[in-house]
Amino acid sequence: MSKERTFVMIKPDAVQRGLTGEIISRFEKKGIKLVAMKMISVDTKLAEKHYGIHRGKSFFEPTVKYIISSPVVAMVLEGENVINMVRGMMGETDPQKAALGTIRGDFGQFIGRNIVHGSDGPDTAKFEINLWFKTEEISKYKKIDEGWLQE
Ligand code: RTP
Ligand code: MG
Repeated sequence: MSKERTFVMIKPDAVQRGLTGEIISRFEKKGIKLVAMKMISVDTKLAEKHYGIHRGKSFFEPTVKYIISSPVVAMVLEGENVINMVRGMMGETDPQKAALGTIRGDFGQFIGRNIVHGSDGPDTAKFEINLWFKTEEISKYKKIDEGWLQE
């Protein structure tokens, strides 16, 4: 399996509720490499581009409103199979259905306030990383635990 990158966003409710450190910590403890991170006050244009695939659906406008309501923390994570690994750690879209032990299952209650976003596939990841980050904002570096995460 080859190395992948994924885009993760800690949504406004999680930032406001003081969960930023806890969420980043879960990724760090799993051994996932953080290669970019910033706090952004998202504007409507960026939010609409990010959720463009959902344009026309009933939750599109409320979701855009939610994302622009307060700052988010945007990140790029890197590793083997990291896209699916992060989706698994996030849990189902609806926190009521997400398993305990997942980020949404542990910290969320409502689908409209579901704590975190993670890219859902390689094409989406590429699109979202390009949308949110400039190439020079992504760090290339070797991490000392890399030899200890695999056989
Ligand atoms: P995300 O894109 O935020 O990582 O979430 P996801 O892939 O698990 O779910 P997706 O179907 O892409 O939905 C995007 C976001 O829209 C909001 N939503 N609300 N009220 C509703 O029925 C509803 N459905 C979706 C959520 O904020 C969801 O994360
Ligand atoms: Mg999605």
